[in-house]
Amino acid sequence: MGSVAFNLETCARPNIIALQPYRCARDDYKDDGTNTLLDANENSYGPSLSVDLSTNHEAGESTLRLAGLNRYPDPHQIELKQLLCDLRQSADSSTALKPDNLFIGVGSDEAIDSLIRCFCVPGVDKILVCPPTYGMYTVAAQVNDVEVVKIPLEVEGEAPSFDIQPTKIQAKLKDDPRIKLAYICSPGNPTGKLVDPVRLKTLLEYNWNGVIVLDEAYIDFAGNKESLAHWVNDYPNLVVMQTLSKAFGMAGIRLGLAFAPSGIARLLNNLKAPYNISSLTSALAIQAVSKPGLEVMRSHRELIIQQRERLVRELPQISRIGRFLGGYDANFLLVEMLDRPKSLDGRPDNKTAQAVYSQLAETKGIVVRYRGNELGCTGCLRITIGTEQETTKLLAKLEEVFREIP
Ligand SMILES: Cc1ncc(COP(=O)(O)O)c(C=O)c1O
Repeated sequence: MGSVAFNLETCARPNIIALQPYRCARDDYKDDGTNTLLDANENSYGPSLSVDLSTNHEAGESTLRLAGLNRYPDPHQIELKQLLCDLRQSADSSTALKPDNLFIGVGSDEAIDSLIRCFCVPGVDKILVCPPTYGMYTVAAQVNDVEVVKIPLEVEGEAPSFDIQPTKIQAKLKDDPRIKLAYICSPGNPTGKLVDPVRLKTLLEYNWNGVIVLDEAYIDFAGNKESLAHWVNDYPNLVVMQTLSKAFGMAGIRLGLAFAPSGIARLLNNLKAPYNISSLTSALAIQAVSKPGLEVMRSHRELIIQQRERLVRELPQISRIGRFLGGYDANFLLVEMLDRPKSLDGRPDNKTAQAVYSQLAETKGIVVRYRGNELGCTGCLRITIGTEQETTKLLAKLEEVFREIP
């Protein structure tokens, strides 16, 4: 199934294919707690911290593994990878996700950048993005001297679908063989909308020597729609990125991941810095994706979805709030600010959106995101769903702002 033209050996950069990954002595001799470790120039006396970590029961020494901070972290993270595979394994899939299907990075931002470094020769190759979309694809491309080709989401019409346009994307890929990666965000940022899996399949069936990168940063907010991570075993050129920064509420530890066919995952792992994931990050990530952590994630997600539904009900009661654009599949809403009340035929308006954005921040202490300049998002703010209290405050302060601005 999928693209038969895809050939990892010719698609990835030759220097990455040829790369000999960094090896450490502990690849040969594991740190099982019995060896005297004099191989990595660490400090056997321990970390320079004034607390006695070996007896720090309050912080949960065994859970957080603080006492081992003088040692380099595990470069392979197999325990965490297995938990992530278990989490995303699908009953629909005959092939199990395995740790060798995974790359783990410092946020999914590292995966975005690593994919570009793996596949795109600077100054020669290109990536494709579908605006309006997450800005880091373009930033990472520019840092790597890689050109960005844009095929917008469907934004035409009175109620734009904000879905991908597979026919136009395919035509562009056919036209430009230098495009190596196509980044697709589902649910989209800032659209908050899942991509139609049928359209995605059309794209995955297209025969080209490049990789579709599906960014599922917000997938856990998308109702009962499950992640498509298990598709990486069906399509040779699909990578699915996720993160612990959103539904898991762990943006501070910086942990993101990419499920990929094992050949692609191997290249990404070969090119990464060996110790990119700190011991603290990995210990906390293991907690978050183990059973008790998953229960917390699911209960927080439920609360976020309740507040999202509340905003969908209550925001339109404010006279100068227009439509919700995009969808309801993420932990934010994309919403129009109108120049006049709806009853007076108000239109979405960037000046109004900018005024609401700055008044909210400067006089009401609420920071949202202005998205009016994004394609198809005229007059829009992107509002993250907060706690019940934060939602109450937001609704009250928005009403006040609309009384204060022209
Ligand atoms: C669509 C999308 N992908 C990736 C990221 C980055 O996530 P991380 O914190 O894992 O780097 C974000 C963050 O806002 C995002 O919106």
